[in-house]
Amino acid sequence: MTTASPLVDLRGITKTFLGVAANDSVDFDVRAGEVHALLGENGAGKSTLMNVLCGLYRPDEGRIFLSGEEVHFRTPRDAIAAGIDMVHQHFMLIPVQTVWENMILGQEDFGFILSKSAICRRIDELAGQYGLHVDPEAPVWQLSIGEQQRVAILRMLFREARVLVLDEPTAVLTPQEARQLFSTLRRMREEGHGVIFISHKLDEVAEISDRVTILRKGRKVGTVKTSGVGPEELAEMMIGSRVVPAVNKRAGGAGEAVFQARNISVLNDKDLQALHGLSLELRRGEILGLAGVDGNGQTELCEALVGLRPLVEGSLAFDGREMTGAPVRDFLSRDVRYIPADRRGTGLVPTMNLRENYALRHYWRDAFRKGPFMNWEAIAGQTGRIVERFDVVTPSLGVPVRMLSGGNLQKLMLARELDGDPRVVIAMQPTWGLDVGATAFVRERLLDVREKGAAILLVSEDLEELLALSDRLAVIHKGRIMGLLDDPRLATEEMLGLMMAGKPLASFGEGA
Ligand SMILES: Nc1ncnc2c1ncn2[C@@H]1O[C@H](COP(=O)(O)OP(=O)(O)O)[C@@H](O)[C@H]1O
Ligand SMILES: [Mg+2]
Repeated sequence: MTTASPLVDLRGITKTFLGVAANDSVDFDVRAGEVHALLGENGAGKSTLMNVLCGLYRPDEGRIFLSGEEVHFRTPRDAIAAGIDMVHQHFMLIPVQTVWENMILGQEDFGFILSKSAICRRIDELAGQYGLHVDPEAPVWQLSIGEQQRVAILRMLFREARVLVLDEPTAVLTPQEARQLFSTLRRMREEGHGVIFISHKLDEVAEISDRVTILRKGRKVGTVKTSGVGPEELAEMMIGSRVVPAVNKRAGGAGEAVFQARNISVLNDKDLQALHGLSLELRRGEILGLAGVDGNGQTELCEALVGLRPLVEGSLAFDGREMTGAPVRDFLSRDVRYIPADRRGTGLVPTMNLRENYALRHYWRDAFRKGPFMNWEAIAGQTGRIVERFDVVTPSLGVPVRMLSGGNLQKLMLARELDGDPRVVIAMQPTWGLDVGATAFVRERLLDVREKGAAILLVSEDLEELLALSDRLAVIHKGRIMGLLDDPRLATEEMLGLMMAGKPLASFGEGA
C-alpha cells in the first residue's frame, strides 16, 4: 500500500564538484510501499543524489526530511541508524570475512552484540522472506558477484532499513538473476519499504517501478507514475529531443582468421587463475561478441590478447606469425588497437595536447608525413574532424588533454583508436559511460572498421548491444568459453543468461 506522506523527502538538493553541478536543486521523495526509479543517462547525477541521501556527501544546498522531520546526516552511519541504506555499485563488503560477519560490520558501537547463531538465524529468516539465499558461513570472496549483491541487500534488511537504495543493481547480473532481484524488490514493496531503484535502462524501470524520477545533466526533468508513460516518452525525458540514430548493420563477409589465441591461461592481479585454457579466433571483417557478467576474466583476456598480461600457458598468433611473449609494442603497433575498460590506462598522455595525442597513434600514416617531417597541418585537420564527429568538448586542439573531463577523454581515446584502418580492435565496454548519441556513433564506427576488414573483439555487458553488433557471439564464465554461437540471432536471452551463469552450450542438447 502506498501512503501519501513520504518516508524521505529531499528538497532542492544542489551538489557541485569543481564548480560543476552534479545535482542542481533536485527534489525527490520515496513513500512506504513503492519502488521509485531514478532514471538518467550516465553522469546525470543519480549516484550523487543518493550519496547525499545516504550521508556520503554533504549537499551544498537543500534539505532532507525523514517522516516530516529535518535531518542532517554527517556519515553513512547516521543514515543507516535512521533506516536509510544503500547498495553501491561496488558492494563494500569485506571479502575475507564470512557472510554473517559482514552483516555486523560497522555495527560494533551500535550498542548491541549478537551471537553468531542469532545472526545466522536472522539471515535465514530474511533470506526466506525475500528470496535472497546465501550460505551464511561462506567467505564473501568465494561467492559470485550475484551472490555478493544478495549479501549486500541482506545486510540492508538485517540493519532494518526502511528506505533501500540500489545503485544500478542489474549491471552485474545475468537476466535470470535480474528477474530474481525484481521479485525481491516486489517483496520489499509488499513489506512496506521504500525502494529506490537507480537505472539507465528504460525497460527495467518500466517493469519494476511505481513512479519514476528522471534526471538529466544534474537537473530533475520530472516525476511521473510509471504506468502513465510509454517508453518513448521516458526516453525523451531521459535524453531530451536528441535523435537516437539506429544501428544499421550491413551484411558482413567474414574472412580468414587474423588473430588466434590457443589454450591460453593467465593469472589475475591476485595471482589466481583468471583464464583456463581459453581459445578464440578473430576473423577479418567480423565482430566477435563476448558476453559475460563482469569479472569473469574479460579484462585479463583483453590484456593477454594485446601482450599486456603474460601467458602462463598457450599461444597467440597474428597473421600466422607467432606472437607469444612478444612485447606490447609489437601488438599495439599500427595494426592492433585496444580500448581498455579502465579509461585511465588509455595511453593518452595527459600533458600533451589533442593533436599530439592523436599523432602518437597515427604519425606513421603517409597522409601525416611530409618527407621526413610530420605534417602537423594534416594532423590538426584530422584531429579536428574526429573531435567534431565524436563531439569531444574542448576549448581547442592545443590544450593538454588533462584539461578534459572523463567523458570527453573517453571519446577522444575512442576517436583515436577507431580512426584509420585498424586490422584488429580489442574493445572492452567501448560505449560504457557515453551518452546516447556518442554510443550510436561508436557503434557505427565499429561497424565501419569491420566493413573495411578489421577483426574485432567486442566485450560488453550489454546483451542488446552484443546482439545488434556481433557476427558471432561467445559467452565467458569463470575464465572459460561456455559456447560460441555462429548465429547470435538464434540465441535467446534465457539461453545466454544460463551460459553466463556457467551452463555450457553443449549441455543444451539438440535443437536448443
Ligand atoms: N566525487 C566526485 N568528484 C568529482 N566529480 C564527480 C564526483 N562524483 C560525481 N561527479 C560528477 O558528477 C556528475 C554526476 O555523476 P553521478 O552522480 O555519478 O552520475 P550517475 O550516477 O547518474 O551516472 C558527473 O559529471 C560526474 O563526473
Ligand atoms: Mg551512478
